[in-house]
Order: sequence, then C-alpha cells, then structure tokens
Amino acid sequence: MKNAVGVAQPRVEGRAKVTGAARYAADVPVPGLAFGVVVLSTVSRGRVLDVDVSAVQDMAGVLGVIDHRNAPRLDPAAGGFFGPDGQLQLLQDEVIPFAGRPVALVVAETLEQARTAAEALPVTYDEEPHDTAFSADHPASRPAVTIFDEPVDVGDVEAELAASSVVVEERYRTPEEHCSAMEPHSATAWWEGERLEAIDSDQAPFSIARTLATLFSLSPDLVHVRTEHVGGGFGSKGLCGPQLILAAMAALLFGRPVRVTLTRPQVFLATAMRPATDQLVRIGADADGRLRAIHHEAAFEISPLVEYLEGCTELTKTLYAARAIRTRLSAVPLDILPPYSMRGPGAAPGSFALESAMDEVAERLGVDPLELRLRNEPVTGPVSGLPFSSRNLVACLREGARRFGWDTRDHRPRRRREGALLTGTGLAATSFSAGAFPSSATITAEPDGTFTVAIGATDLGTGARTALTAIAADALAVGTERIRLRISDSGLGPAWGAGGSRGTTSWGWAIIEAAEKLRAQGCRGTVTADTTGSLGGLPARERHSFSAVFAEVTVDPMTGEVRVRRLLGMFAVGRVVNPLMARSQVVGGMIGGLSMALHEEGLRDPVSGRHVNADFAGYHIAAHADVPDIEADFVPDHEPGIPMGVKGAGEIGNVGTAAAIANAVWHATGVRQRSLPIRLDRVL
Ligand code: MOS
Repeated sequence: MKNAVGVAQPRVEGRAKVTGAARYAADVPVPGLAFGVVVLSTVSRGRVLDVDVSAVQDMAGVLGVIDHRNAPRLDPAAGGFFGPDGQLQLLQDEVIPFAGRPVALVVAETLEQARTAAEALPVTYDEEPHDTAFSADHPASRPAVTIFDEPVDVGDVEAELAASSVVVEERYRTPEEHCSAMEPHSATAWWEGERLEAIDSDQAPFSIARTLATLFSLSPDLVHVRTEHVGGGFGSKGLCGPQLILAAMAALLFGRPVRVTLTRPQVFLATAMRPATDQLVRIGADADGRLRAIHHEAAFEISPLVEYLEGCTELTKTLYAARAIRTRLSAVPLDILPPYSMRGPGAAPGSFALESAMDEVAERLGVDPLELRLRNEPVTGPVSGLPFSSRNLVACLREGARRFGWDTRDHRPRRRREGALLTGTGLAATSFSAGAFPSSATITAEPDGTFTVAIGATDLGTGARTALTAIAADALAVGTERIRLRISDSGLGPAWGAGGSRGTTSWGWAIIEAAEKLRAQGCRGTVTADTTGSLGGLPARERHSFSAVFAEVTVDPMTGEVRVRRLLGMFAVGRVVNPLMARSQVVGGMIGGLSMALHEEGLRDPVSGRHVNADFAGYHIAAHADVPDIEADFVPDHEPGIPMGVKGAGEIGNVGTAAAIANAVWHATGVRQRSLPIRLDRVL
C-alpha cells in the first residue's frame, strides 16, 4: 500500500472546477428564490434620517425593503474571539458607524429588479463629523486587547540599547489592505419552520452557524450552514458576513429563500480589511552583530464596534535571540470598517517592520544581512524560554542563499546597473505560528468497501479536499479512491475554520483519530473522534513554520518603477502533505507579499472618510504581468507533537516577501522603503 501523503496529487475537484461543474454559493439552484441587494451608507458617521421605501416599493418585481425600522431584532451578545461584535448588528438602529455600513436591503423577484430598486432608493442622513485619520499618536490610542499577542518585557531594553554599538530606530507604516477574494461574498437563506438553512461563501461553516444561531436566538441545532466550493477568503470570510445575516432576515420577513450577493465595491466596503499600521522598531547590536535589544511597538486602527488584534509583534518574540525584548500593541478607534484577519494577520505587516529594521542593522554594521540572521539564531524561545518543537530557519536561509546565489552579493547599495536599470537583492527571514484547534471527524465504513469521512472543514481553493483525502486514505490504509470526503457543512460537527494556517493540522488530526478508532473496531460501523483531549496533551513548545525569502528587483531611476525579477522562498512547514498544492499555496502567498510590497493600498478621502478605490480598477493586486518566475521549495521538517508532522503552510508564504522586496529596493537604490506600498513617488 503506497502512502498518499507526501505525494504530489492534483486537486480532486480540479475537473469539476475547470469544466464549470463546481458550484459556488451563488450558483446553487434554489426553488422560489428572491434576491436581495444591499444598500450601504455613504456617510462615515451619523444617523439615518429616512429610507424612502415608497419611492421603490411599486417598482417592477420589488417585494419590499428592510431597514432598521422593520428588521428582525438580533441578539447583541453575538460575537467571536474578541467578544460581542457590533459589526454583526445590522439594521438594528439608525446609527452609522462607518461608510459602508448596510442601511437597507431591497428584495425583489430578480437580481436585476432588486439592483435597480436599490440604486433608486433614497436614503437621507444626519451627518456627524467623522475621524478616519489614523496615526500612532492619535489621542484615542490605547493598549490593544491582550489575547494572541501579549505585550512582553524581557531584560532591560533601555540599558541594552545604551550599551549597543549600533542602534537602529525607525518607524514603518503599512496601509489598509483588502482581502479581495476572487469570489464575492454570497449567501442564500431560507426557513423550514423554525429551522434556518443557508448556503454561504465562508471559511468556517460550523462557527458561523453558531454565530447565526445566537443572532437569531435559535438553538444551534436549528441552524445549518453549508458551502460547496469557495473562491478564496483570505480572512474576510471567517466571520458571519453581512450577506448571510441579511439573507436570513429577508427570508424570515418574506417567507421564501433569499440570495444576497455583494458587489465587488461592497466586498471592499462592508466585509473586512487589514488595518493600517504604524510601527516603531528599535534594535541595538554589538559590533560583532549580536543583538542586545529589540523593541517593537505597533499601533493599528480598529472600529469601536468590535475589538480586534493585528499581532504585529508576534514574530519579534520568535525570530532572534536578544538580551532584551520589549513589545507593545496599541489600537486607535476610528470611524472605519472594522478590521479583521487578512493574509498572515499581524505577521505580514510586523515582518515588514522587523525584517526591514534588521536589514538596516546589517547596513550600519557592514555585515551580510544573511550572516546577521545566522548570528542571532536562538536556542530556545527568546521570550518564552521554551524549546522549539522544530526550527529549521537556518536550513531555509542557507539553502535559499545557495540557490539564489547570495554569496556573490556586494552588500553596498546602488552598485549594480543593467543598462538604464538599477538592480538589487534582499532577503527576509520569517516565522508563522503553528498548531491545531479542536475538531471532530466521523468515519463510516460503507458496505461497498468505501469510507465516508465527514468533517466540517472548508476548501477555499487551497486543496483541503485533496489533502484530507490523502490523510484519510493513509490513516485507513486504503487507496484514495475508497475515500468519500464530506466537508463544508456545519452539520458535520464542530471543526476549526479554514484559517490561521491550521486547517490541515486541525482537521487531519481529527480524521486520523477517527480512523484509529474505526480500525480498532475492525473497520466496521461508524465512529466519531474529537481532538479536544489530545490537543490538551500537547507539550508546551514554540511551534512555528519558518521561511527565508530572497528577492531581486530592478528599479528604473527615471520613473521609479520597481519590477520584481526573481523571488525565491525556502520553507520549513513541517511535513508536506501534498508538494504540488503546498507549493501553489506558498507561491500564492509570495505573490500576495509582492502585491503588498508594491501595489495594495486602500485610500480614503479625508473629507468624506470614504474609500476612493474600492474596486479592482483602483485597488491593484499583482497581476500576471507583475509576477516573475517564483521558486519555492521545502526543507525537510517535521512537527513532532502533531500526527502527520504537519505545521502549516497557509499564510507563511505571504509573510516576509514584502520586507525582502523592500530590502532589495534599498540595495538597488540606496533609498530605504519604510512605508508600503513602494510607490513610484517613494522610490526616488
Ligand atoms: Mo486567515 S487571514 O487565516 O483566513
């Protein structure tokens, strides 16, 4: 019996996707469907004065309008990790907390009729002064919540900085960025008596069904959320989205199934974004390159509607040995769309700051940036003192440097020209936290010799179906053709969502435990396993994936145009379940990092407080023409605490790339890039 794990296999649903047979949330036929179109607030703060329903209610096909006067009441306790979430409280009052807040839903027989009426719906506002201007020294700044990325103080940072030969102290800024999944958020909801059924585009059907149940004051077993295929999420589909809440409301009021699909601008304005950050990094080093102190403080923006944490300082506790480490996070409440997790939340902007500052330390010391990292490799967790479960950052750095040809680099800036272009190279080291969350899986041995494996996982297009099929096949010691995988359904039991780079670890573990139980009873009948207990037995360790990213850029000194010519990433992500898809995943992440470095920036008009580039015409994401040949590969790695030895490859590809590119732009030009994106006007 050959193992399926570790073998490059194409996606099990690949054929369905390329032939158009795969259905996304808005594709699923539902009889008797009506369509809801959302109307968003155009003001950044104030109150709804009037929604003039009479202007549209006689338009063709219109069934009605829902606004704060007739919307079903929602339970204000509903929320998630960060407590009650005011962003979920749609149409509950006339208050406008940000531009993009839904103020009405127009429901009609067809999508076109609903859209026409929504565009014609007069909404008037009592506008109040807003504040959407983020800065680290904003008077409303306050310490951030202390879950996930607690502030730390190890040693005496000030004394160590004072004793350092070289001190770098700089601020780094990153803008608002948008998740921008290819598939817009869409939900269809209907009621079967007391029971709420929904088809939603999301990353976490189980937890979202729970949230929906709380919102509508229903017993959790009365709410059923499914997704079939999902066209990306990047964090923005981890929450119970406005499409789902509004579709459920409309289905209740109009007594039939209602589908709500956000438009592309609505996805930008009403779902989730990465907050802007402003980070201070101070690093002190001895002349021999040993770090004495790292001080990393990050401010980010939030909404008063709900807490959120952009954990920018998490890597700072992991990557390098230093006698003193101090981290702080602060939040600035503004009248903006509530920020939420996006593509390596915290780590991506945090790594840009830390790894840019490390490059500046190398410059000031006159040492190779690669050598600087190697000299500060910690033996145990620099803050926790815990052993690393496994740490193969040095292997990533050395193998990456070898393949990239780093050893011939002249470390002085602005030395290489090719014709009219300046060229340069840069690198960054990265980590991303690894681990698993409790999940449950059920396996049934079918009479025909196949096995039905059911788990509330979701495949965002990353290959979860394929990976879990392979894991189940190996765990049951059968071929993959005997595995019938069922995912994407809240009715399949508690499971972690597709996020936090923990999908494969969390779900695979549950499947392996269920398979062990089934084999122990002779591969007959049905078993359910839940990993809550096993997870509790995990020894305390520093668990992270690691990587090293190398970039080569060209810069046109006449125009400031930066082109990335080469990207190379070496990754230590534990055991690789499927080398083909894992490579695609980290390459996709690196493209996201390139996009963050050079292109992505949500822009606001300070007068209105509104996003002015809330679409793909104004908000550029790296396209094929922007993306060079990318080389990505894996060094041998194994996570000893977790069955399968997996750590997670979901987000780490996105982390590190921006700093590697910014460092390469400095190497080409001699100009430091401390604000993203690296726009033309910032290069020269
Ligand atoms: Mo995420 S940003 O783990 O969906």
